[in-house]
Amino acid sequence: MERIDKIISNELNIARSDARSLIKSGKVFVNGVCEKSAARKLDEERDILNVNGKEIKFRRFVYIMMNKPKGVISSTDGRKTDEKTVIDILPEDMKRKKLFPAGRLDKNTTGFMLITDDGEFAHKILSPKKHIPKTYIASLDKPFDESIAEAFKKGVVIGNDECLPAVLEAADEDYKTAKVIIKQGMYHQIKRMFKSFGIEVVELKRIKMGKLSLDEHLAEGECRFLDEFELELLENN
Ligand code: URA
Repeated sequence: MERIDKIISNELNIARSDARSLIKSGKVFVNGVCEKSAARKLDEERDILNVNGKEIKFRRFVYIMMNKPKGVISSTDGRKTDEKTVIDILPEDMKRKKLFPAGRLDKNTTGFMLITDDGEFAHKILSPKKHIPKTYIASLDKPFDESIAEAFKKGVVIGNDECLPAVLEAADEDYKTAKVIIKQGMYHQIKRMFKSFGIEVVELKRIKMGKLSLDEHLAEGECRFLDEFELELLENN
């Protein structure tokens, strides 16, 4: 159960005070009846909310799968003024307060980005202790060989960082496209892992988190909500 002013503020991405004004002005209906109390609590399972004649779907938390395009950053810390974040490019009708990207992808990395307002869930899927695999396709400037795949399996050491065992498989015949599965999210991890063997990653795309694959119908920059079944796949290792 959540207060109606909080729900409207969240779902319409407006200030709580503006949500209260809407309620006072008689434009808010619950189950077909005008509601004028901002303190009214709604049941997300049962109550139907209408604002300005439009039904508002409300959920406690949302989970969005985005196919991140290149050139967009997933962090809001220390960004330059001209840089757009994955939150900036969400469609207006999906924007809510408190949404954040769960994990980081580099500016030029594409693919599966999870955006949510559920901090606990984000923590669960990002924690290295949970061992949730993240699968990437990497295009390389030169081929890798089986000795590098073996080293990935044992755990690559990059500087002071010791990576957990990772999977490295060829995704094409000439070993210049690789499928990589890692269970951590260290800074530039895959690029640094290859770099330690003198290989540059030219393109990188995340195609899967847990057992949930990136929806191939999503073009770069597009996104959609995930359902409960998909969340379970995401949490799965
Ligand atoms: N590893 C990288 O090097 N970059 C990413 O964006 C993700 C994993």
